[in-house]
Amino acid sequence: MTDIKQILAADAELVNDVLRGYFARNDEDIKELLESERYSLFAGGKRIRPFLTLEFCKLFGGKAEAALPFGCALEMIHTYSLIHDDLPCMDDDDLRRGKPTNHKVFGYSTALLAGDALLTHAFGVAASNDLVESNAVAQAVKLLSEQAGEFGMVGGQIIDLAGESEKLSLDKLIKLHSMKTGALIRAACLMGVIAAGYPIDSEEAVSAAEYAEKIGLAFQIIDDILDATATEEELGKSVGSDAESNKTTFLSYYSAEEAYAYAGTLTAEAVSAISSYEGSEVLTDFAVYLLDRKS
Ligand code: IPE
Ligand code: IPE
Ligand code: MG
Ligand code: MG
Ligand code: MG
Repeated sequence: MTDIKQILAADAELVNDVLRGYFARNDEDIKELLESERYSLFAGGKRIRPFLTLEFCKLFGGKAEAALPFGCALEMIHTYSLIHDDLPCMDDDDLRRGKPTNHKVFGYSTALLAGDALLTHAFGVAASNDLVESNAVAQAVKLLSEQAGEFGMVGGQIIDLAGESEKLSLDKLIKLHSMKTGALIRAACLMGVIAAGYPIDSEEAVSAAEYAEKIGLAFQIIDDILDATATEEELGKSVGSDAESNKTTFLSYYSAEEAYAYAGTLTAEAVSAISSYEGSEVLTDFAVYLLDRKS
């Protein structure tokens, strides 16, 4: 058994150091925008997406440094997605990462623009990865765009909103989870594989994608359970939000116990997708850690 919490904390520190460097530039005229970006980015997220990028890169023989710009780009896109997800026109939530949501502090327009800026800046960060061969960087950037865009996370967000006014079928719900949450997790794992020097059609990439698919779905199932069962203090974000907006979630189909059991099956499948690779314990332990997370 690895000390997964300690590895996660060490990776988060590496990521935070590099992110701080990307956000060191100042300009008095856009001070409020920069403050708003930094407010959400450095509010203490778990950094699980960059962790996956770093650890998949290391699993396949690469160095963590080569994965860092990709991991940071993912965290910036993830943070933008949270800022927009919390807006009144979306989930209308007041608490995120243990603090008032971005729009509560900076106002709707600045929050919207902080999201836009984080998204746009992220592509520059990913593209400037000079520790990876340039055609591999191009492949990673293309993948990031596909997984973050309308056929990935953004598409998932619009299906999620549709699930407020009609009950989605279970198949549609699985597709929604795979897009809104699975897509960035897929990008995170595969960008790590690319940073290690393996192409997107390699056997390593296929195994990583299989792992990502399973933990991505399990992650959102647990998120749905926690929204209904945890407290704001535990999660650091608004709870009961799904029920309040009448969303279709896993709890529309299963009890919390059944949903948890389903997430457990997916976790076991994720583990078996990569367990034959030497050194996969960090990532297999991580899948189990995610299943039992309380925040
Ligand atoms: C929250 O993601 C949004 C979902 C996709 C469920 P995380 O649980 O990774 O949030 P942070 O980054 O730790 O705040
Ligand atoms: C959000 O899903 C996924 C994103 C793309 C941001 P949720 O709306 O369930 O995430 P939380 O519960 O607000 O973190
Ligand atoms: Mg949402
Ligand atoms: Mg939300
Ligand atoms: Mg949620």
